[in-house]
Amino acid sequence: MAPPFNQDLMVRGDPVSISDLGDNRLEALQAFNARLVCMTVDAASYEEVVQGVARVLGHDACALFMHDALGRELVLQAAVGYPGLRPGLRIGCDDPASMHAQAFSEEYLVHVDDLANQPGVKPLDPDLASALVVPLISARGPVGVFDFGSRTQGTFTSAEIRMCTMLVDQMAYSLENLRLLGELSSSRDAVIRGMALLAEIRDSHIAGHLNRICAYAKHLSESLQSRPGFHEVTPAFIDMISRAAALHDVGKVGIPDSILLKPGKLTAAEFEVMKSHTVMGAELLEGLMQDYGKYEMIIMGAEVARGHHEWWNGSGYPHGAMERDIPLAARIVAICDVYDALTSRRVYKDAWTPEETFATMRENSGKQFDPELLDIFFAKPRELLAIRKRYPD
Ligand code: C2E
Ligand code: SIN
Ligand code: SIN
Ligand code: FE
Repeated sequence: MAPPFNQDLMVRGDPVSISDLGDNRLEALQAFNARLVCMTVDAASYEEVVQGVARVLGHDACALFMHDALGRELVLQAAVGYPGLRPGLRIGCDDPASMHAQAFSEEYLVHVDDLANQPGVKPLDPDLASALVVPLISARGPVGVFDFGSRTQGTFTSAEIRMCTMLVDQMAYSLENLRLLGELSSSRDAVIRGMALLAEIRDSHIAGHLNRICAYAKHLSESLQSRPGFHEVTPAFIDMISRAAALHDVGKVGIPDSILLKPGKLTAAEFEVMKSHTVMGAELLEGLMQDYGKYEMIIMGAEVARGHHEWWNGSGYPHGAMERDIPLAARIVAICDVYDALTSRRVYKDAWTPEETFATMRENSGKQFDPELLDIFFAKPRELLAIRKRYPD
């Protein structure tokens, strides 16, 4: 049956340079496979997911519908920016005027850029000019749809559609994860991980980076435990930094692609823009806490986001903080981040060998890096190699 309205249908995973990563995530999804049926997460965690997505993407409106298999309906779980909608709203999966039903049953994204001139389509809100509906597809098939609305036309460019699609794909993964763990507390982790991954994916950093950063940070903080002067490093600290380290670059979601993905060297002006990823990341996380309440891991994530490019001698950014004025978690991640950046390929450089990396970082001991932490980090080089092996690009 022909769709009742004009639309841009885009096959998922189609036009992007990140297709490799999509495949990796597909594999990750498949790893969870068989055990998952449909989702029974509670309302509060959906609320958090939608708030997190709305905050990251910043559109006028955003809503999450999940499939009710019995009723053959999509049920609104949570919404931001739709004052007229209440959770529980239902849309029949075969409603011909519904973009949501269409996206769900075709497993395609549906994009309408001119709602006013599409009389066959029922928008969720009369003030919207354009809308994007992305199916939420789990390892077991479609489970719902994410809706994005905008009061202006032209919001959903192909780059924006890719962003939304990637985030929704990540949410499918997170929601499944969440269900697996079956704990409300994990939904916060799911949101956090979703955002961190989003930043990473766009950066076309290879998939392993996030896992390695967390593993290096865990390794280094474990080595600090029970050393004099590091009473701060408790098992809880180690547990937190092993996850919060993934947040160091969430602020990169705010850096334009033209800078983030530039193949060559950045100009001074571009680098100034790039530097803002530290403060933007911290503010994003601090903003999340206004929505959710204080949460220790997010506090640490904000410290790490803000402080991971500060230098021991005070010549880093954004604030030029020095020595122990830089939070310990940020000093740890600064080392792990640069170690991983140097030993990995980037759009602007080749991967260095561990020896070259060691030598260069050594030269910067006491300048860029906390000298004591750096010694401890390199004290077990085999562990570093093992982490790289465990999480390849
Ligand atoms: P990134 O690529 O993840 O690099 C993180 C940090 O690793 C860098 O922070 C820097 O401290 C260190 N690093 C990376 N590559 C090198 C290198 O070739 N030599 C040395 N000595 N250190 C290196 P930094 O410099 O503050 O850069 C932050 C982010 O800015 C980078 O993250 C990257 O996303 C971007 N960036 C920096 N320089 C360039 C560039 O020339 N071109 C492009 N396209 N992006 C750049
Ligand atoms: C993906 O996230 O797997 C692909 C996203 C897209 O192609 O838009
Ligand atoms: C950056 O520091 O901006 C990039 C850090 C990283 O993810 O390697
Ligand atoms: Fe960074």
